[in-house]
Amino acid sequence: MARPKPAAKAPKARKTQLTHTVDDFESAFWPDERPVDNAVVMTMGALHEGHAALIRAARKAVGAEGRVAVTVFVNPLQFGANEDLDRYPRTLAADVRLAEESGADVVFAPLVEEVYPNGDPQVRLTAGPMGERFEGATRPGHFDGVLTVVAKLLHITDPDYAFFGEKDAQQLAIIQRMVADLDFDVEIVGVPTIREADGLALSSRNRYLSEAEREQALALSRALFAGRDAAAQGPAAVREAAAKVLDAADGLDLDYLALIDPHDFVEAADDFQGEAVLAAAAKVGSTRLIDNVRIIVR
Ligand code: PAF
Repeated sequence: MARPKPAAKAPKARKTQLTHTVDDFESAFWPDERPVDNAVVMTMGALHEGHAALIRAARKAVGAEGRVAVTVFVNPLQFGANEDLDRYPRTLAADVRLAEESGADVVFAPLVEEVYPNGDPQVRLTAGPMGERFEGATRPGHFDGVLTVVAKLLHITDPDYAFFGEKDAQQLAIIQRMVADLDFDVEIVGVPTIREADGLALSSRNRYLSEAEREQALALSRALFAGRDAAAQGPAAVREAAAKVLDAADGLDLDYLALIDPHDFVEAADDFQGEAVLAAAAKVGSTRLIDNVRIIVR
């Protein structure tokens, strides 16, 4: 008689703790003295499958016994005067559920006063020239705000690894450069963009789009895919193929389309070869969207 198969081992149930203060976060994240690998995923909340992929990657990196923290903080420093700070979606209860399902141990969701107890910080990090082009040209000071909060959250969470989405390619490049230039003791890991079946890159801001705008927004990813398909013909062909799709698109107010050398995050030279980022940003209605693909240009 065939022996009954042993029951499949159920995945370890994890209860994610929600914390709001640095003290509570520290007690929850380091419950004992055991040295284990730990990782952080920094977010502004409104979590979606793209964030879930970051949290799952973090869990995989530290293993079942390691610790994963997710920070949820809408950082005022990185929003310009006319940007969407006040209407930025805040969905903490759902965020904690998704963080738990994806493998987080602790969510750290501080108030602004907890992160900036002395009011607006007088001393801030600056992203330098890398933060002044592309996104930085349209959003002056944005990356200084990002770096300032990322540095603070790295100090508070003290991780071995920090995971960021490749969707924010310039942010990822600048954070990598900050860690290298200023000797932060952390490994920054980029995680590929998650897309809807029709190509739209997941973003917390997609929820602002009407159905018609969502349809128009698809031109962004279509243009990038067209550029990617031309990668074997060199930089000019990539730019031309992507621009053709955008020129024919309705309802997009294009900010930039750029083929970027990821090292210094500058426009790639006309004879560039190797790994590049093809990036675009556009407004659809009142919503600003960014997207990019990584390609190998020949
Ligand atoms: O990418 C984001 O959500 C934010 O810029 C970050 C890294 C959490 C800093 O506020």
